[in-house]
Amino acid sequence: MISTNIKAKLAGGSAIRKMFEEGNRRKAIYGEDNVYDFSIGNPDLEPPKEVSEALLQLASNPTPGMHGYMSNSGYESTRALIAKKRGDESGLTIGPDAVCMTVGAAAALNDVMHSLLDPGDEVIVLAPYFMEYNNYIENHNGKVVIVQTGDDFMPDIEAIRKAVTPKTKAVIINTPNNPSGVIYPESVLKDLNDMLATLDHVVHVISDEPYIDLVYDGGSVPSVLKYIDNLIICFSWSKSLSLAGERIGYTLVSPRNADYEDLTAAIVLCNRTLGSVNAPAIWQKVIEKSIYAKVDVANYEHRRDLLYSNIVDAGFDAVKPSGALYIFMKTPSGLSDTEFQDICAEENLLLVPGAGFSRSGYMRLAFCVSESSIINSRKAFYAIAEKLNIPHRA
Ligand SMILES: Cc1ncc(COP(=O)(O)O)c(C=O)c1O
Repeated sequence: MISTNIKAKLAGGSAIRKMFEEGNRRKAIYGEDNVYDFSIGNPDLEPPKEVSEALLQLASNPTPGMHGYMSNSGYESTRALIAKKRGDESGLTIGPDAVCMTVGAAAALNDVMHSLLDPGDEVIVLAPYFMEYNNYIENHNGKVVIVQTGDDFMPDIEAIRKAVTPKTKAVIINTPNNPSGVIYPESVLKDLNDMLATLDHVVHVISDEPYIDLVYDGGSVPSVLKYIDNLIICFSWSKSLSLAGERIGYTLVSPRNADYEDLTAAIVLCNRTLGSVNAPAIWQKVIEKSIYAKVDVANYEHRRDLLYSNIVDAGFDAVKPSGALYIFMKTPSGLSDTEFQDICAEENLLLVPGAGFSRSGYMRLAFCVSESSIINSRKAFYAIAEKLNIPHRA
């Protein structure tokens, strides 16, 4: 007999997974080219050449012990490089002990939750948000507290303050954001920090950063280290270097965090006891050699532009994303998300309802799909708009 908790989670399933399976079913019937599946955000660019060069170099110059156990926090040489990079960006002095190498951001977030939470402790998430946070929080007996962002998807600082209770341990921020694509400006980070500083207990900010290098229109992501005091970063190279299957990331505790000593020790312990033991050895070494490399961000930007034009030219509304891999379009008024989803599916256009991110009235489309699929989908957007009597804009 499996646990009742997991049994309930199995019954719930995942909205994104369900759409993914529906996509495969439709592709088998209508053909690969005639189904426009924007449901899943699997980064589809190849890693930059620095990654394969580093792998080749490591494989052809093996060193004794390179496949063995190491400190649970990872190689000091890798951690020192990350600490330097994040220190240079923020102007803070950061040592290698601030960093713990992890099995991607997912493991980083689990390590942090396990480190922070007593049963019933609360973590604030800002909707729309990546729904796996629910699992990462509940895995460690925490309680998810959802606070909606504004129409521009920016955090509502007053609403966050009102949601804080004596049990609140942390707020998760994710900028650039999945699913909205917004980047929080400096002023928002500063306001959040100022508000948290007025509370009578420490509430940590967990900055989940898998999309930090996927920024468009020449923009940049303000340094959370500069503006947030009680900060814990959860980073991943799943998107920055297209290494999602390799599982490599890190946690970084800000030297300004009030619980720095306890937290850095706790995260390393949890990395071990939750079963990662340490992050993959080879990938830590690859990161050392490709830490300043990135995937071809212009390629994603081009596809974002194409998909965004399809949506708005056909007559629908969306905030143009400044980063990440998704467009969060508005569901046309008068329709529920699932009604709109069904109408879209009739044209073989697959997207994920906003409820999957705790924000109804929107649909998420991932633009990390083939350029031809985006181009070919244009006629489907137009056909749907015509069905709904929505006037085209171009
Ligand atoms: C917002 C967000 N956080 C965390 C993750 C998990 O990333 P990783 O592959 O590093 O575990 C994802 C993956 O899509 C994500 O979108």
